[in-house]
Amino acid sequence: MTDPQQHIDRLHELSAAAREQIANAASLDELKAVEAGSIGKKGELTLLKKQLGSLDPDDRKAVGQAVNEAKSAIEAAIAARRATLEVEARRAQLEAERLDLTEHPARRRRGHLHITTASRDRLEDVFVGMGYTVAEGPEVETDWYNFEALNIPPSHPARGMWDTLYVDLGEPESTLLRTHTSPVQIRVMQAAKPPIYMIMPGRAYRRDTADATHTPVFHQIEGLVVDRGISFADLAGTLEAFTAAFFGPGIHSRLRPSYFPFTEPSAEYDISTAEGGWLELGGCGMVHPNVFRAVGIDPEEWTGFAFGFGIDRMAKTFHGLADLRDLFTNDVRLLEQF
Ligand code: DAH
Repeated sequence: MTDPQQHIDRLHELSAAAREQIANAASLDELKAVEAGSIGKKGELTLLKKQLGSLDPDDRKAVGQAVNEAKSAIEAAIAARRATLEVEARRAQLEAERLDLTEHPARRRRGHLHITTASRDRLEDVFVGMGYTVAEGPEVETDWYNFEALNIPPSHPARGMWDTLYVDLGEPESTLLRTHTSPVQIRVMQAAKPPIYMIMPGRAYRRDTADATHTPVFHQIEGLVVDRGISFADLAGTLEAFTAAFFGPGIHSRLRPSYFPFTEPSAEYDISTAEGGWLELGGCGMVHPNVFRAVGIDPEEWTGFAFGFGIDRMAKTFHGLADLRDLFTNDVRLLEQF
């Protein structure tokens, strides 16, 4: 027969030792090992508990109570230590996963939009300010949208105005890279009923050899107004207001008679330069009745004007560049200056 006091003393030792180990456990894994060794299935406390059956009923009660007390004390210590270790582990994980997003002061340089993009944005802003909305269309077009619907039938001599790049798709010369943004006018009129006040910026392509004033890829902004009673005076007034808003109040616009198959009458749009000359920026005119007919708009009821300007040319003029190709070379030494 064992002395119950011996058990109780051993329990006290055990509890004290376990709590010291718990306090010293440096990780959740270590804590788990201490837990298994003390109150786990094969832990000493559990073994002691199993021996209770061999005690006298009175002793059993006293030792049993001591077992329970020791167990509760150890469990409480484990729970407290676990909470602390979990917080520490989480903090360590966050620290390890932290991204240093502070910039090195020597590299703190802000980028900015390319001047072509910035010009396009400003153009849009000016027209949106006048109540226009913005639309876009595909860069790969059919002959019908790029030419026929714009009153340029097959073999019309005016086709020579655009050196076209064809896409090898479908019938020969039926698919092409749009030579201007004017086909978007057709798409807009097919999709929306008048009144229409829209601008359509985008890329266009021509079989041109690049030089200081030409690039085979370039940007245009197309404008289209269709309403009742629109006259050439509305076109001239709109372009004059646009010129002042985009280039500044000292710059004026001029319209010179010209020819485009999709407008009648047609004009060339020039702006005054600081040197006292004039600079040609694009074409415009009153929408030709045949264009309205191609999209099912009644030319007896509706009239309208259209225009198409080169965005790159405007950016070149606005920033005083010497060569259009600089807008496509993307040499940062140039781009950084704006
Ligand atoms: N699409 C013409 C071109 O690229 C420019 C143009 C002229 C557009 C007159 C128009 C217009 O909308 O009315 O050469």
